[in-house]
Amino acid sequence: MILDVDQVHAHYAKSHVLQGVSLQVGDGELLTLLGRNGAGKTTTLKTIAGVVAPTQGRVMFRGQPVQGMPPHAIARQGVCLVPEHRGIFKLLTVEENLLLGLRKRSPWQLDDVYRIFPRLKERRRNGGGQLSGGEQQMLAIGRALMNAPKLLMLDEPVEGLAPVIVEEIVAQLKAIKASGVAILLVEQNLEVCTQLADRHCILEQGRIVYTADNKGFLADEDVKDRYLGVGLA
Ligand SMILES: Nc1ncnc2c1ncn2[C@@H]1O[C@H](COP(=O)(O)OP(=O)(O)O)[C@@H](O)[C@H]1O
Ligand SMILES: [Mg+2]
Repeated sequence: MILDVDQVHAHYAKSHVLQGVSLQVGDGELLTLLGRNGAGKTTTLKTIAGVVAPTQGRVMFRGQPVQGMPPHAIARQGVCLVPEHRGIFKLLTVEENLLLGLRKRSPWQLDDVYRIFPRLKERRRNGGGQLSGGEQQMLAIGRALMNAPKLLMLDEPVEGLAPVIVEEIVAQLKAIKASGVAILLVEQNLEVCTQLADRHCILEQGRIVYTADNKGFLADEDVKDRYLGVGLA
């Protein structure tokens, strides 16, 4: 197991947003974290990354407690969050954006990222501001890879993107997973989730209310209505 989140609570001022979240990600596993808007998905990722400090509970990464550590110290251990708003530097080129993420001994160097994202190679001299939404997302993921993640956390990576780009990103995430990086994915697009995930868990009002492997999730029509308010297409 690479990540073990145990009974984590988090607050924004007096608002008690996470109310005892527990979830685990296995080595090389892809877990999706599902739930309606406002359930606390983004806050869960931020709490694991140390951007939000948990008020209670434990976050164990590769067997060591990381809760309460500053974000840069957690990142250094190999936890990488690609936030919803992708944080691309518009005035830097694609390649400069990538190199900002580079760690010396990262197994992911420029060529490795370009192999997975050929579009980024084509556009490497373009400014970050000239990229489409899909290309910006690829750049954000590519930059995260250069930071040598052992756990990659993605917050709604395909939101608002055209179906053909979504398919491209799904294939890229499959390749990243196949390389051995564990992934915690927050995503509303259930088709994407069920194409990628080993397991799913559902967050509701700051608690995990459901966990299943992909097969069990696909077979359980009720769960989508009950917790997500949607059916699979
Ligand atoms: N910075 C913030 N300050 C205060 N409340 C917040 C902040 N960010 C999120 N919230 C609230 O916390 C709850 C969970 O938000 P969030 O984690 O973003 O949910 P999700 O990602 O599942 O949509 C929501 O009620 C949201 O309004
Ligand atoms: Mg969110």
